Amino acid sequence: MPTKAETSTEGLAPELKAKMALALDVDDLVEAVRLARQLSPWFGVAKIGLELYTAAGPDAVGAMIDSGFDVFLDLKLHDIPTTVRKAANVCGALGASYLTMHAHGGTDMLRAGVEGFHEGARNAGLTEPTAVAITVLTSDDDAPDHIVPNRLRLAVEAGCGGIVCSGINLKDAREMSPRTLRVVPGIRADGAERHDQPNPVSPSQALEAGADLLVIGRAVTLADDPAVAAKELFTDIG
Ligand code: C5P
Repeated sequence: MPTKAETSTEGLAPELKAKMALALDVDDLVEAVRLARQLSPWFGVAKIGLELYTAAGPDAVGAMIDSGFDVFLDLKLHDIPTTVRKAANVCGALGASYLTMHAHGGTDMLRAGVEGFHEGARNAGLTEPTAVAITVLTSDDDAPDHIVPNRLRLAVEAGCGGIVCSGINLKDAREMSPRTLRVVPGIRADGAERHDQPNPVSPSQALEAGADLLVIGRAVTLADDPAVAAKELFTDIG
């Protein structure tokens, strides 16, 4: 039976919803499914990170696909090329639409990951998914300014279809590689609690600056009423 949220007329239009990834940073699959279904009028993509994947494994991917979401598997792969290729192949076969890998791993590793991911999906009869390179972690305070453009170049050379960058790097990323999907975490309403996000931007700022996929977690998941928080966060774009 559909949930109340699923039958509600509130929510974003399909083309905007497809740009919203809900970060399910919880350690319990039942809670993740409940959150995702409650927020389904606003989010078309479910992001499964290390916490949920460690707790629930591939079942988490299947549960989100069964609930109608595209899956963003945020495993931030970083290992030797052979291992990354094999792991990415499994992620493709599971039906993930997006998979993250660290650009810090270098061109050969990224290329192996892209090939493995695409091959896994192809062999399962699925459409080609998007490999996404992490340019730099927001927690890396020592990263020099040139690191994002360098890693973007590396990612594109290796065949990655997307990159993760912060809102402040969006303009440069768009100019350097207009066809690369730009994934942006650190989304907050103006003046809201930023948690550990150093450079938050609002949904409308991110979209105007060229973000293709907005990653949103605690701004909604920690709220007393996540659905109300989502509605408020998206007021200026919905
Ligand atoms: O801050 P929020 O809960 O919206 O984070 C959503 C996602 O952004 C997290 O799942 C993580 O992947 C990423 N993140 C980040 N930098 C931080 C904190 C989280 O890129 N400082």
